[in-house]
Amino acid sequence: MKDFLAILCVAGIVASGCSSSQKSNSSSSPSLKDAYKNDFLIGTALNNSHILERDSVANNLIKQQFNAATPENIMKAEVIHPGWDTYNFDMADKLVEYGKKNNIKINAHTLIWHSQLPSFIRGIKSADSIKTYFENHITTVASRYDGKVYSWDVVNEALNEDGTMRNSVFLQKLGPDYIVEAFRLAQKAAPNTLLYYNDYNIESPKKRAGALDIVKKIQAAGVRIDGVGIQGHWHLGTVPYQHIEESIEAFGKLGVKVMFTELDISVLPNPLRGNVADVGSRADNNGANRGNPYVSGVPDSVQNALAADYAKLFQLFLKHKDKVSRVTFWGVEDGGSWLNDFPVRGRTNYPLLFDRKFNRKPAFYSVYNLKK
Ligand code: G3I
Repeated sequence: MKDFLAILCVAGIVASGCSSSQKSNSSSSPSLKDAYKNDFLIGTALNNSHILERDSVANNLIKQQFNAATPENIMKAEVIHPGWDTYNFDMADKLVEYGKKNNIKINAHTLIWHSQLPSFIRGIKSADSIKTYFENHITTVASRYDGKVYSWDVVNEALNEDGTMRNSVFLQKLGPDYIVEAFRLAQKAAPNTLLYYNDYNIESPKKRAGALDIVKKIQAAGVRIDGVGIQGHWHLGTVPYQHIEESIEAFGKLGVKVMFTELDISVLPNPLRGNVADVGSRADNNGANRGNPYVSGVPDSVQNALAADYAKLFQLFLKHKDKVSRVTFWGVEDGGSWLNDFPVRGRTNYPLLFDRKFNRKPAFYSVYNLKK
């Protein structure tokens, strides 16, 4: 019944009982990808349910609003390469089809990341075997999707907050050149795919310096890197605009594109020290620090502050649209955001442009209206 009503809404046959996103497939309905079509791609993160088109309301909204998408989990190594000789391409193949059918460019995420690794990696002790895994993984996965996905996050989150290299299994077993080698292998396996380095907090000066070094090192080796993804997991009222602008300029000077790849703005208290998006961090799940003030709804003052932060951010992105090639939100609507479970499980967060019923929030209009 819900799906049937959604179809009638989208077709414009009924209006009563329709959400704004359902009503809006008509040419007059506001769409971010259309509004920003001459500026940069507008992306979202997709989960299994989206890719399998299980919910027609979500499906219509995605097709209407976004022309780029990143799989939130299904191309991570633990899913796509679960055993030494075993690959599971089922969902990734479906994602590629979904993108083709709906004219959505796919940013594949991610080839080399210290987290969400397959469990068999823990049993590997020798550097030679890690090297073989590394080569097989990049070559097999990147070549399968060459020309089918638009881009790859080749290496994800290789830096510490002070700009030094994270002590991952790859650094330990392969040494500091592993990042250059990952790009070299990806370039060979995927000559028709754009190649990116992706990390959180790389707008902040020390970590940015580390990311700039990575780009320079790859370029000095004569290997291709096309862009840098600044993830953009920020907090209401403390979005680091100046650092963001400095970073767009600094990466731009190296001749690589800049993307905002996992954008969301948490409106809840942050119990972690600093602006951390490290999935290994967790806060106390109980007691006074739980900080979950908006379980039954978010006040207008917070909606408006969120709208103001998003407007300011997009003004900045537009100012630098010659360097910014994509802005991707990390999720479709508030209910599906990872921030409901991070860094404290079971909270009610409101970090995106669409609410739990897929309706446009004031933050949507603050971004959309910049282009009116
Ligand atoms: O698939 C299992 C499912 O079988 C199981 O029943 C369920 C029980 O908890 O867990 C499911 O796995 C979860 C997975 O998301 C899929 O929903 C994991 O527990 C959960 O840890 C995982 O979280 C993801 C996280 O990365 C870790 O991979 C988030 O959805 C995803 O938004 C987040 O994305 C990362 C980016 O890749 C990199 N940058 C930071 C960003 C946010 O952490």
